[in-house]
Amino acid sequence: MTGRIIGTGACIPTLVWDNNKLAEMVETSDEWIRERTGIARRHIEKERTATEMAIEAAQKAMESCAELKAEEIGAIIVCSIAQEEVLPSVSCQVQAAIGAENAFCFDLKAACSGFVFAYNTCLAYMNMGLIKNALIIGVEKLSTITDWTDRSSCILFGDGAGAAVINACEEEGAMMMKCDGSRGEVLTCPAGSTLLMNGQEVFKFAVRSVPEAINEVLAKKMLAKEDVDYYILHQANRRIVESVAKRLGEPIEKFPMNLEEYGNTSSASIPLLLDELYRSGKLPKGSRLIMAGFGAGLSWGASYVTV
Ligand code: COA
Repeated sequence: MTGRIIGTGACIPTLVWDNNKLAEMVETSDEWIRERTGIARRHIEKERTATEMAIEAAQKAMESCAELKAEEIGAIIVCSIAQEEVLPSVSCQVQAAIGAENAFCFDLKAACSGFVFAYNTCLAYMNMGLIKNALIIGVEKLSTITDWTDRSSCILFGDGAGAAVINACEEEGAMMMKCDGSRGEVLTCPAGSTLLMNGQEVFKFAVRSVPEAINEVLAKKMLAKEDVDYYILHQANRRIVESVAKRLGEPIEKFPMNLEEYGNTSSASIPLLLDELYRSGKLPKGSRLIMAGFGAGLSWGASYVTV
């Protein structure tokens, strides 16, 4: 059994900070940021809470698959590392807002691997016959935990929320997840503080682990690379995506990107990209996708999903 995307939604902050705005805050330039990361702008949320953003993305995702009733959703998982409230969980608040009264709900924290880990978790429940439909949301207000005086990290991050409704389908799935807690110091955020990152180490980890993860999923699924329509990677850095494409020997056109517009939105980056592609008609029924996430923990994972 695998997951089929039957609806998507997003909540995108209207406030936009381009690279020139950051150049007023720290010693950097539009040219440096574009060249090293591919990022041109990021969206910043100043008014809504993460919960409000998650609800908006969830409502849009549910509207996009109107044939599915909210009561048919069996699970709601929200991934976030930057949310205001401790309790109740964001996912329970989403449940109340959309009336998904039969869903069990919990929040999951796996940083930039969050969406893939949440999807894989749903697949496990689907394979156990526990649920048929799930709503997965990635929501981040990274601007609240970014050190806006640190030029080596503040240029990367942005805010946003993305959601996907997943339906269990009979096709066989394939997934992988891994963590290396012994290397956790590479990307940290102490309570009440800001993100601290060794950028070069994260970069090296990503370009090595992501192709391995994708190859593992392709092998488990016995899927040839030619049969993959798109690789949906966590949007961290254009050079990371390009390096993964090269190592896999796949054309860069199969790696859609939107990091130029949003920067790195952690667990929201994959569902934001899915929503963009889904709404623009680039994911026709039957599309075969491999998603891959990576980040703090260290954690990484990949999974097959269809449309
Ligand atoms: N503007 C201008 N110069 C900057 C800068 C900025 N925003 N940030 C760093 N620099 C400088 C450094 O001080 C350094 O100067 P020096 O050579 O005089 O010491 C130089 O640029 C090179 O720094 P370096 O850290 O080697 O750059 P890099 O090519 O590794 O790029 C990142 C830095 C952060 C963009 C890159 O490492 C990266 O994207 N890593 C992955 C991070 C990531 O994706 N994290 C989230 C994962 S989920």
